[in-house]
Amino acid sequence: MGVEIKVEHLSKSFGKQLIWGDVSLTIPAGEISVMLGPSGTGKSVLLKTIIGLLKPDQGSIIIEGTDLATCSEKELYEIRKLFGVLFQDGAMFGSMNLYDNIAFPLREHTKKSESEIRAIVMEKLDLTGLLGTEDKLPGEISGGMRKRAGLARALVLDPEIVLFDEPDSGLDPVRTAFLNQLIIDLNAQIDATFLIVTHDINTARTVPDNIGLLYHKHLAMFGPREMLLASEEPVVRQFLNAQRVGPIGMSEEKDADELAAEVGQELPPLPPIPMQLEPSNGIPRRSQREPGAWCREHGVTPPPGSFGSEVATASDPRTPAEATRRTGGRPTPAVV
Ligand SMILES: Nc1ncnc2c1ncn2[C@@H]1O[C@H](COP(=O)(O)OP(=O)(O)O)[C@@H](O)[C@H]1O
Ligand SMILES: [Mg+2]
Repeated sequence: MGVEIKVEHLSKSFGKQLIWGDVSLTIPAGEISVMLGPSGTGKSVLLKTIIGLLKPDQGSIIIEGTDLATCSEKELYEIRKLFGVLFQDGAMFGSMNLYDNIAFPLREHTKKSESEIRAIVMEKLDLTGLLGTEDKLPGEISGGMRKRAGLARALVLDPEIVLFDEPDSGLDPVRTAFLNQLIIDLNAQIDATFLIVTHDINTARTVPDNIGLLYHKHLAMFGPREMLLASEEPVVRQFLNAQRVGPIGMSEEKDADELAAEVGQELPPLPPIPMQLEPSNGIPRRSQREPGAWCREHGVTPPPGSFGSEVATASDPRTPAEATRRTGGRPTPAVV
């Protein structure tokens, strides 16, 4: 089912440095949301604040009626049980094999017997395509497999909310495509709320139901993916379409001279909105909407060519099978 996360007027600083201020958004239950933003804009800080590892300076994070910003340690401990987290590097214990890494939260947080633990670990290994690798050490497998193992571990306590910190960082485009398909399939299967932090535009364009963009110490926009992919708002438009013309410069904001130089410069047209990835495991996703539904309901004309199946590119193939075809027929690994 998944649970909703309601963030209101959230601000976070370290010393005198404001990371972001007045962030408000509601992450809908059971849906996949992506938070985008340039490096260093505080995406990881936002994830850590949402699970209560960091305290905000102001604002609230309401989950099942509890405000994580003000609740007691005991309440926080209870709320944390709702979360599974995939950290950026997979955060595996290097000296433990995958089986023991994945079993770790069950041994720490439950009183389950070793045979019950075994059944759960095997189920999560199967879900993430890792059956047969349980005796390997994290150092003996690829980066993509380590991420899958981190994901298997994030799932062992049957979370209602799964947070992903840059699941695609360090992966090549084909492995990213496999991982993105796995995220869609898992969402269909476990029906939890997914929040994915990334700076990968292809992931943002093809995976989520909702997109947010953190920029220049605030949340520039958050809403259904078609709303952002059809948006003419300068920062959103520039970032989601990887364009040079716009308010975002090399290091942060462009200065007045740089912006003045762009006056009258024609913006490239918005690219077509690609199809959203669909589950490949035959399980429908409750929050998956008809292509173009949001645009139709809001009287927005999507860019020409939107929702055509031919718009998938090498780095956002629609299915693993298509990913294989798009590598020119060369075999691709069965697991990432
Ligand atoms: N524990 C901390 N103490 C002080 N500064 C921090 C801490 N964690 C993150 N920061 C700072 O917060 C900013 C945002 O970091 P981060 O959330 O990691 O960015 P992103 O994930 O978007 O790349 C950076 O300037 C970083 O140096
Ligand atoms: Mg980060």
